Amino acid sequence: MPLLLKAADPAAITTAAQRLAAGSLVGMPTETVYGLAADADNATAVHRIFEAKGRPADHPLIVHLAAGDGAQGWRAGVDHYARDVPPFAAALMQAFWPGPLTLILPRRDGVAAVAAGGQDSVGLRCPSHPVAQALLSAAAAQGVTGVAAPSANRFGRVSPTTAAHVAEEFSALADEDLLILDGGACPVGIESTIVDCTRAHPVLLRPGMVTVAQLEAACGQPLRERDEAAPRASGTLESHYAPRAKVRLMDAKQLRAAFQVLGSDAKHIAVYARSTFETARGVPRRRMPDDAAAAAQELFAVLRELDATGVNLIWVETPPEDQAWDGVRDRLQRAAA
Ligand code: TXA
Ligand code: MG
Repeated sequence: MPLLLKAADPAAITTAAQRLAAGSLVGMPTETVYGLAADADNATAVHRIFEAKGRPADHPLIVHLAAGDGAQGWRAGVDHYARDVPPFAAALMQAFWPGPLTLILPRRDGVAAVAAGGQDSVGLRCPSHPVAQALLSAAAAQGVTGVAAPSANRFGRVSPTTAAHVAEEFSALADEDLLILDGGACPVGIESTIVDCTRAHPVLLRPGMVTVAQLEAACGQPLRERDEAAPRASGTLESHYAPRAKVRLMDAKQLRAAFQVLGSDAKHIAVYARSTFETARGVPRRRMPDDAAAAAQELFAVLRELDATGVNLIWVETPPEDQAWDGVRDRLQRAAA
């Protein structure tokens, strides 16, 4: 079993930083989801991430940076990995770092090639979670400039938002191979918004809780939709974030009608919805919050919980059209694909 330590204990942060410096894996809480972390400049350590996740080696990982001291304390880290930072990217860092935003930038030759999955770009993010920052700065003091960390789930599965989820995903790893820092439940709950900054205009690669309107206001230009030339991203695969049960999105009317028709035959179905309607007794059910941030925060934990009831189907009420729901809607559509 992986080693699980409470992040509130400063000795746990020190041990985790030493493990990163030694090329070992650490389960790291961030404000979005837990990451499976390794020294981004250590190819052997980064290979361990791909192996543990069962992730294809050409799917690039995000490199996480310490916030450092003073204004733009992350800049030395950015300059270590990125060859060029266009002004619109600098404006986005200024506005949203530390926080749930990842920027794809042209990669400096010879750095983090394995973490970047062989692409000539690199994904950078400065997380705001205090435990992530404590770990990143302790690791930096030991010579680790950046920490590669995909979400700490096996490839294609639901992202983890608690330390227990991470332990569940990697129960096969021994305690010397994985230390998980328990920093409690992640406050944002879905992965960072990703913006491609390798071309003349910012392009949205993955929606998240930083909305398009907020990004556009901060960088002063419209965001483009992803196109053929945009870099591939596994979080943008059509089918991703999938629990074992099949997920289906339906509106309130469809849900009401379907449960009416099924009556007591609905026992193999779980439901996650904002609106209220009758279901047979024993149907596992969670109420979706009316607020997008609250729904995002609990989304992956709810999918895991409903999946664990053993149902074959999870019926989810389609989220509102509103931009605030873009990230949640995107994850649910992929879970349903
Ligand atoms: O919130 C998050 O971003 C979390 C936490 C742990 O920071 N991390 C995360 O990592 O979601 P992951 O590996 O599950 O998703 C990273 C996404 C993938 O879709 C990947 O393809 C994309 O970022 N990505 C990373 N580097 C890239 C690059 N150089 N070019 C294009 N896409 C890249
Ligand atoms: Mg992921």
